[in-house]
Amino acid sequence: MSKVLVTGGAGFIGSHLCEALLQRGDQVFVIDDLSTGRIENIAHLQDNKHFHLTIGSILDLSRLEPLIRRADVIFHLAAVVGVQKIIDAPVETIETNILGSHNVLSQAARYGKLCLVASTSEVYGKSKKVPFTEDDDAVYGPTNKSRWSYACSKAIDEFLALAYCNAQGLPVIIARLFNTTGPRQTGRYGMVLPRFVDQALRSEPITVFGNGHQTRCFADVSDVVRALLTLMEHPKAIGQVFNIGNPQEISIYQLAKLVKRLADSDSEIRMIPYDEAYQPGFEDMERRVPSIEKIFRLVGYRPRLKLREIISHMIESRRGELVTTEALPVTAALQSQSLRAGVVE
Ligand SMILES: NC(=O)c1ccc[n+]([C@@H]2O[C@H](COP(=O)([O-])OP(=O)(O)OC[C@H]3O[C@@H](n4cnc5c(N)ncnc54)[C@H](O)[C@@H]3O)[C@@H](O)[C@H]2O)c1
Repeated sequence: MSKVLVTGGAGFIGSHLCEALLQRGDQVFVIDDLSTGRIENIAHLQDNKHFHLTIGSILDLSRLEPLIRRADVIFHLAAVVGVQKIIDAPVETIETNILGSHNVLSQAARYGKLCLVASTSEVYGKSKKVPFTEDDDAVYGPTNKSRWSYACSKAIDEFLALAYCNAQGLPVIIARLFNTTGPRQTGRYGMVLPRFVDQALRSEPITVFGNGHQTRCFADVSDVVRALLTLMEHPKAIGQVFNIGNPQEISIYQLAKLVKRLADSDSEIRMIPYDEAYQPGFEDMERRVPSIEKIFRLVGYRPRLKLREIISHMIESRRGELVTTEALPVTAALQSQSLRAGVVE
């Protein structure tokens, strides 16, 4: 049994990771300030005697240091995440993502603890290359467009992690996650799939930002967690950067149509210009496709869930949550329709 520290463990991906770690018999320690994480995400774990939650910030070294000292390994997931949140809280984004990661990495280096850093496909910026491979150049917009602060802050985390690795021997692995989705992800901070699903289930307009031609690739959180755990077990992963994602690509407009169909929704699909959705001059990436050849070559990783299954699972889980939180008018016909959608193709 290992002692595993998960920063951001009450978040969407972190909560699924904690579940998997407990299932394999680890002792799990979480530090989370609940800024975007939720107690509901981990409520079902709280009775487990191997699960320990510290509500606090990674910016608070007095809380963080003892957790790192006592841990065997660390999954560093705590960050300010989500396009909307980054625009709304630019200072918090930069401070948490850079200073918080500095705290985690410096303490991990001090005690020589294996640390996996959750980075993001955003670090590739607006490069037009398809697919992205780990050694590709990053291309960013100007500093007066605050959305790039997330990409830059995560790129600094990567630089810092590799610097600690090379200069001080920190065993570190960098996982560049592409769009990850699944149960417990919320649409509150600009995550597209839960937002579309909620809009479809509420019969509200499904709002596509931009012209909808931009494409994304979605991986299910169960596949992503499996990749993180597998990488952490492989000694040759240390000191390296890996893309983690699902190369199946879809345009955002097509995604809206698919969600509408699988949810059997009567929502209209409404296009909203980026300027209106975010802020004037907002820039987005047109395509963001991962090459997963590197992680496949090292650990044989391939995602298992296809997009339709991912969407159907999300519809089922959101329908359950919406029914309990706001008495969504769900007819029996709708429910059986979506159960059928869960097994299509
Ligand atoms: N979900 C995705 O599609 C995606 C894609 C690329 C990268 N990532 C990365 O994966 C990680 C997890 O993301 P997620 O999607 O689960 O988002 P999330 O917002 O659900 O999780 C982040 C967690 O970090 C916590 N947190 C934020 N600031 C903190 C602080 N100062 N101290 C302690 N805890 C703090 C939040 O409360 C939350 O629980 C992040 O590092 C993110 O950058 C996610």
